[in-house]
Amino acid sequence: MHSARFLVCTLILALPLAAGGCNTATQRPTDDSADSAGNAEGDRVWTIGMSQCNLGEPWRVQMNSDIKAAAEQHADLTVIFKDAQNDTLRQRAHIEEFVSAGVDLLVVSPKEAQPLAEPIARAYRGGIPVIVLDRAVRGDEYTCFIGADNVQIGRAAGEWIASQIDDDSKIVELKGLMTSVPGQDRHNGFIDGLGGKGEIIFEADMKWLEPEARKEMDSALARFNDIDVVYAHNDPAAHGAYLAARAAGREKDILFVGIDALPQEGVAYVSQGILDATFEYPTGGREAIETARQILGGESVPKTITLKSRIFTKDNFAQGGEVIE
Ligand code: FRU
Repeated sequence: MHSARFLVCTLILALPLAAGGCNTATQRPTDDSADSAGNAEGDRVWTIGMSQCNLGEPWRVQMNSDIKAAAEQHADLTVIFKDAQNDTLRQRAHIEEFVSAGVDLLVVSPKEAQPLAEPIARAYRGGIPVIVLDRAVRGDEYTCFIGADNVQIGRAAGEWIASQIDDDSKIVELKGLMTSVPGQDRHNGFIDGLGGKGEIIFEADMKWLEPEARKEMDSALARFNDIDVVYAHNDPAAHGAYLAARAAGREKDILFVGIDALPQEGVAYVSQGILDATFEYPTGGREAIETARQILGGESVPKTITLKSRIFTKDNFAQGGEVIE
């Protein structure tokens, strides 16, 4: 049974949020009996604002759906989603809209590290707990960061590639947006993991986008007759590179490695022989909701929650991959 407060809270919040943002969707659990955990006030309903930087990649759609599924287990949680459509200014505005609407907690998966740090810090200083999910922001003015270790993932990719190639093998690196921390970390870790093996002959910022990656790979193929490996910072980019190579009749000469490992995307590509390896980048959606409940219940939470990653290759995908250390 939801109290009158629930309705008032929902109306006050839903109106400005719906009016202020594009692609705003409200998700509210409907099964009251699901509230097994309850909370201190019994019938209090908490409103979480979720600012997603874009929903262009399957991975982000998965993140939202993981959040929604976890929140649906708790009748005392309402999650309002906003999609910034890959636009930093729009994401800044969304965070401000959530703050003025008075949400109880913010979850932000930011596009870029620097420009999103400020609105997040303002919300945090104003007393709204903020969980930063997946891409880190500059500084430490937020409640909790949840994500996998991108340096570790990059390093594991470098080590795996080093184990598959010759000293003079030619590498193409398709980087994620370099103003975002995962792009920087996946690159730095990779260089470390390669340990001097192979030669990076072409690198480009594909901004996490498959069409960009395909375009960049077309250029690499046109410039270099010899390409042995593509290391792409996400699976959409690895797939785009594969398509470019296939169109040029060269896909069989090249190893393709990506990151994300969604079952329906990267792992499926490995099982189809399109990618040679992919590294899991967990969405953290479920963990964000668990952590949000702890914060809202007055518990203290760690500043950083680091999620584990796994490698999937043709040899281990059927067994569910292997955890990287
Ligand atoms: C989706 C995405 C994922 C990647 C993550 C990094 O936008 O590019 O493919 O792993 O963001 O933040």
